[in-house]
Amino acid sequence: MSRASWKLWPCVALALVTSACGDEAEPPTAAEYGELLFRDARLSESQFNAFSCATCHATTPTPLNGRMDSGYTLHNVVSRPDWWGGYETNLLDAVNFCYVSFMRGVQPLPVDSPQSRALYEYLVSISPDAQAPALPYTVVKDIVEVPRGSLERGQTVYRAACQECHGELHTGEGRLTELASILPEVTRDYDELFPGIPHSLVVIEKVRHGQFFHIGGNMPAYSLEALSDADMGALLTYMGL
Ligand code: HEC
Ligand code: HEC
Repeated sequence: MSRASWKLWPCVALALVTSACGDEAEPPTAAEYGELLFRDARLSESQFNAFSCATCHATTPTPLNGRMDSGYTLHNVVSRPDWWGGYETNLLDAVNFCYVSFMRGVQPLPVDSPQSRALYEYLVSISPDAQAPALPYTVVKDIVEVPRGSLERGQTVYRAACQECHGELHTGEGRLTELASILPEVTRDYDELFPGIPHSLVVIEKVRHGQFFHIGGNMPAYSLEALSDADMGALLTYMGL
């Protein structure tokens, strides 16, 4: 699509998310509009969604210091041959998996919608290399106990991986959404909910599988690449589990 034909619609759609686009303002390019959508939880119409794409994905070549996201950085994402460890061979499907599973999008974004087109242009703009390798994605299938690690490492991992959504340990202070459980206090109900199962195993299950395997919710799952078993063990020490 030519640049000119991208010019008109973003302004109309952008008016929904900001008050920009006065007569004097230059209409944003599709990529600029895409970046706004990328950073705005209101991309999803669900009132229960508090996540934007940026909640889980960096866009810089390497992840920012102090951040351990469930999702990879999307720098060069368009240049990868496939996504989700080869499970997805179509980029929009890879995006829509997140949109529907984590952002509570009711319908996948249609291929010709202004949102998916703009998101695509933004992802192109952060993919400077012609080719980039596909990234590994290893789901931990069987949930087993992990050796506990150091308290200090656990605190670092908690801050880097969990705190943005869950807030401070024990209080939830600063959490992204009230829907994010207070850790580790949420485990107090586990004897009733999951009788006979050690609390730590339920937490490992949640972190490794997110909402899948019938637990529900919209927290993302952490692959082995996103969180090692050693860091999981340190996290459990920090949470006193
Ligand atoms: C709640 C966290 C979360 C949100 C929100 C989220 N994602 Fe993801 N995304 C993930 C996880 C986890 C993966 C799997 C690991 C990976 O491949 O990065 C993933 C994978 C992807 C991939 C495949 C990357 C690859 O190379 O395998 C793309 C593309 C993607 N997400 C785009 C998006 C876009 C665009 C949005 C916003 C519409 C979004 N995601 C929202 C967590 C999230
Ligand atoms: C992108 C935001 C996000 C991140 C990052 C995140 N969580 Fe969550 N988590 C949630 C939300 C929202 C819920 C409640 C909905 C659900 O269960 O999915 C939740 C629920 C939980 C639960 C409770 C499940 C239950 O209902 O008993 C546990 C345990 C948990 N998270 C642990 C973690 C740990 C440990 C980390 C860091 C490795 C982490 N979470 C990272 C958003 C997040």
